[in-house]
Amino acid sequence: MIGQVLALASIASTASVVGAVAIDSKFLENDISKIGTQRDIYKFLYGSAPYFSYPVNNSLSFDIPETCELVQIHLYARHGERYPTPGATANGINNVWYKFGNYTEKFNGSLAFLNGDYQYPFDNSSNYGLLTTPDNVANPYNPSLGSSTGSKEALEFYERYSEILEKHPNFTIWTSNSNRVHATSQYFSKALGDKFHINLQTISEDASQGPNSLTPINGCANYNGSLASNYTSKYDKTYLKDISGRLNAENPGLNVTSTDAYNLFNWCAFENNMRGYSDICDIFTIEELVKYSYYGDLLTYYNEFVGNPLSKVVGSVPAQATLKILNTPENELDQQAFISFTHDTNILNYLAALGLFSDNKPLTAEYIDWTTDFHRSWLVQEGARIQTQKYNCKSSNGTSTSYVRFIVNDVVKPMTGCSNGPGFSCPLTEYTSYLNKRLEGVDYVKQCGSTKVSNITDLTFYWDYKTHPYDAPLHV
Ligand SMILES: *[C@@H]1O[C@H](CO)[C@@H](O)[C@H](O)[C@H]1NC(C)=O
Ligand SMILES: *[C@@H]1O[C@H](CO)[C@@H](O)[C@H](O)[C@H]1NC(C)=O
Ligand SMILES: *[C@@H]1O[C@H](CO)[C@@H](O)[C@H](O)[C@H]1NC(C)=O
Ligand SMILES: *[C@@H]1O[C@H](CO)[C@@H](O)[C@H](O)[C@H]1NC(C)=O
Ligand SMILES: *[C@@H]1O[C@H](CO)[C@@H](O)[C@H](O)[C@H]1NC(C)=O
Ligand SMILES: *[C@@H]1O[C@H](CO)[C@@H](O)[C@H](O)[C@H]1NC(C)=O
Ligand SMILES: *[C@@H]1O[C@H](CO)[C@@H](O)[C@H](O)[C@H]1NC(C)=O
Ligand SMILES: *[C@@H]1O[C@H](CO)[C@@H](O)[C@H](O)[C@H]1NC(C)=O
Ligand SMILES: *[C@@H]1O[C@H](CO)[C@@H](O)[C@H](O)[C@H]1NC(C)=O
Ligand SMILES: *[C@@H]1O[C@H](CO)[C@@H](O)[C@H](O)[C@H]1NC(C)=O
Repeated sequence: MIGQVLALASIASTASVVGAVAIDSKFLENDISKIGTQRDIYKFLYGSAPYFSYPVNNSLSFDIPETCELVQIHLYARHGERYPTPGATANGINNVWYKFGNYTEKFNGSLAFLNGDYQYPFDNSSNYGLLTTPDNVANPYNPSLGSSTGSKEALEFYERYSEILEKHPNFTIWTSNSNRVHATSQYFSKALGDKFHINLQTISEDASQGPNSLTPINGCANYNGSLASNYTSKYDKTYLKDISGRLNAENPGLNVTSTDAYNLFNWCAFENNMRGYSDICDIFTIEELVKYSYYGDLLTYYNEFVGNPLSKVVGSVPAQATLKILNTPENELDQQAFISFTHDTNILNYLAALGLFSDNKPLTAEYIDWTTDFHRSWLVQEGARIQTQKYNCKSSNGTSTSYVRFIVNDVVKPMTGCSNGPGFSCPLTEYTSYLNKRLEGVDYVKQCGSTKVSNITDLTFYWDYKTHPYDAPLHV
């Protein structure tokens, strides 16, 4: 009772913030005091929960060092918070919900909240795969909607990089043609405001684009995205039985299985993306969350990251394009901020090519590797963002040198073996030789067998959009 009074009082005090947004009656069932209280567990949720900064900061500031001038900024960003995708993810969650729906007893223990007026958040399949926005959730007060994350990211980007943006107020942004990716680029663009004229290029995700896309994995015909099974099959999954066993003991006859327990982690994550909290998350112990998290790391390491021999090959496409721009004199560029929106997998491939994380340290399935710096959800959570800064610094003898530095989810990530520059950056010449050496012998067209699906052999969209505009129709 007291909780309800407080909740209503808070609605009244925040009503002006959302202005014209109509309050869905479903909203009255939300306990807004819980919004954001589960942030601490987002780092265990496979990257499916709302955005958070990379958890290890080392106190490094991402400010450009004082003696230096920023001359290029590259942003490679994932879409914001979203609904579960149609297919396995949504079906898995729905199957548990149906089981709950067929249970005729009163719920007990950690599921007792289902006895109240709980509103299932994934009942409308038209929303599957879409960015969460005030138009499609029952809770517009959730600050971690995909729309808000896209807008906030733009405002933070502007705060840090306004000078370089304002040099070219008419500029281009690139996005894939997935609805949620495109929507994120639009929230980002709108939030930058009227002083910019943004020309959005929408590039098809179709395999026929080969390497000329923000999703080059789709044109990589030889890519085997199921290499992890050899490892995940060896991973101890007792924690799932513990969860289902506990729920069944509390609720005799509910028949929750290990698969259901696994799907409950998705329910927890995605409900946070639209409601801002999920009572389902309270089912898990921290140990179970840690075990689930490492399982996701194993799956990702061998399917999408450096444990898969073709991930680096696919990631070489954006890595080499960015390198080419970094080595282009600024007076030959039409803009100095290069902003591109895509998906988690594509960012993982890109990071595999760059070699910023866990390059020579394959993950083991035998036990949890506490020393690895590869954590899927720290790198490609909803709203993930990888920035490359290029800055010129004057040394004491008056000469100017160019440096590059990576910012991963708001935190400086110095390169292993090359961080002697100002702000722990790497001289551009050294970075260039490093990456060329790392990608020596890498050949997307040949190794991917992309000619089976496409006759395009290069990424050209950063350069040829003026003569060949990209305007692919959107899909989910
Ligand atoms: C990291 O630390 C620096 C310096 O203390 C601070 O300026 C910055 O905001 C921190 N970043 C994050 C994401 O916490
Ligand atoms: C009971 O289970 C069936 C089959 O999974 C499902 O179609 C149905 O919607 C469930 N009933 C409820 C009330 O959830
Ligand atoms: C659990 O299994 C039993 C035995 O097969 C069945 O009678 C019962 O309906 C099942 N419960 C639910 C919630 O599906
Ligand atoms: C309800 O769950 C608690 C643990 O949360 C358990 O001790 C109790 O036996 C359960 N009651 C029933 C009727 O199953
Ligand atoms: C289901 O979602 C779609 C897409 O967001 C929306 O247009 C439609 O009104 C929703 N339907 C219901 C019954 O809420
Ligand atoms: C912005 O640039 C594009 C091409 O880069 C050009 O077609 C368009 O006319 C320009 N718009 C304005 C308002 O200058
Ligand atoms: C992908 O790799 C797995 C594991 O090695 C193997 O079982 C499967 O057959 C491969 N798929 C293809 C299409 O080659
Ligand atoms: C499967 O993993 C084992 C090590 O656990 C390795 O020896 C073997 O080569 C792997 N097989 C494939 C197809 O990757
Ligand atoms: C100036 O200093 C830079 C950095 O210390 C050094 O690499 C460069 O060789 C120097 N140039 C001259 C002309 O001394
Ligand atoms: C190859 O390019 C031609 C046009 O140059 C196009 O008509 C054809 O569909 C392309 N083939 C594939 C497999 O993309």
